[in-house]
Amino acid sequence: MPHGAALGIDFCGYRLQSPFILTSGPLSYGAEGMIRAHQAGCGAAVTKTIRLQPAVNPPRHMGTVGRDSLINCEKWSDIDRLQWYEQEIPQAAAAGVTVIASVGHTPQEARAIVEDAEKAGAHMIELVSYTEETLVPMLDYANAHVSIPVICKLSANWPDTVAAAQRCLEHGADGLCAIDSIGPTLKIDIRRARPEMESRDGYGWLTGEAIRPIALRINAEIARCHPELRSLYASGGCMRPEHAVEYLMAGAMGVGVCTAAILHGTAYIEKLCRGLSELLLELGYRSVEEVYRAALPNFSRKEAEGPAGFSFAPFRMDGSRLCIACRRCEQVCCYGARVLNFPAMELDRSRCRSCGLCADVCPTGALQIIQRAKASGSAR
Ligand SMILES: Cc1cc2nc3c(=O)[nH]c(=O)nc-3n(C[C@H](O)[C@H](O)[C@H](O)COP(=O)(O)O)c2cc1C
Repeated sequence: MPHGAALGIDFCGYRLQSPFILTSGPLSYGAEGMIRAHQAGCGAAVTKTIRLQPAVNPPRHMGTVGRDSLINCEKWSDIDRLQWYEQEIPQAAAAGVTVIASVGHTPQEARAIVEDAEKAGAHMIELVSYTEETLVPMLDYANAHVSIPVICKLSANWPDTVAAAQRCLEHGADGLCAIDSIGPTLKIDIRRARPEMESRDGYGWLTGEAIRPIALRINAEIARCHPELRSLYASGGCMRPEHAVEYLMAGAMGVGVCTAAILHGTAYIEKLCRGLSELLLELGYRSVEEVYRAALPNFSRKEAEGPAGFSFAPFRMDGSRLCIACRRCEQVCCYGARVLNFPAMELDRSRCRSCGLCADVCPTGALQIIQRAKASGSAR
């Protein structure tokens, strides 16, 4: 285990070794991938979504969007459900993986699959569907027929994800996952002048970095609406330990990982675990439990007023340079208010609109914003 803050969490009645959960996707195509994720430090692993018929995917079904996001038109599991029950789930469970069986996408399929998944040794069921209207009957069936915890995976493609969370909890969901990939979305292959995804409509689903702020807002809102909820896990663009901290602070108990592990390999989860453990300690938290929901009391109901205050430190305490004169602060100022005459930083207050971007882009922290400070003579 890494030296730093304690990463173990309690989730839906299970003790998980870390808050990271390998979410349903190509890395959980079978037991092998799930065992790798477990060995890398994942607290649990979700199977690729099991349906009545195995999927047949078009040849080109995953591509990058920028550096840290993906578009995909991959369908559900491409192996038969009997293989999941007879081999993949039992093998993964025997290797110590906390297995969450993803079951989609219709009530008929939930009826055909959930009990067999439980018998095969799954520790939890995760229900996933295209609409909220079909998810709730799946949940009702699963609740009545399995004794293991049932998680509902929520989509931001629905009109009101937070209301859907409420409905799932009213119908007895033991846990929630927010959110699924977002779409449909499009990427054009400009060399071939055609959609890159070879799905029927050329569209695909967006994951990774690009969707994190959407997922984070939804997780925070669900957590704020349900102060007692301790079994929400986030999914969407956790690429670095900092992102996991954001999710934990916003009220997610677990943090899903899919795109990051696809792009960097499953072993990257080890780095996420080590990084999270060290970062939490650096931020003053000794455990996930301590950081959990830490940001929620700080959501103000009132818009802040007054000009922003800034502090600028060109040098560190030991005299070495902190400001590297990259001039990002000048570049991003839409109003031409900032001028760096190293070591002096000038701010034309008559131009500055207090947007804060100059401080946000400072790569070293030499220029910082003092939140909600009143205008004062010392603010530059
Ligand atoms: C290639 C790919 C395939 C996926 N397949 C499934 C799936 O079968 N079932 C499912 O519930 N989610 C599936 N997802 C969605 C992920 O589980 C996850 O919710 C989403 O990617 C957002 O997390 P991320 O930004 O960490 O990737 C898939 C994602 C990707 C990238």
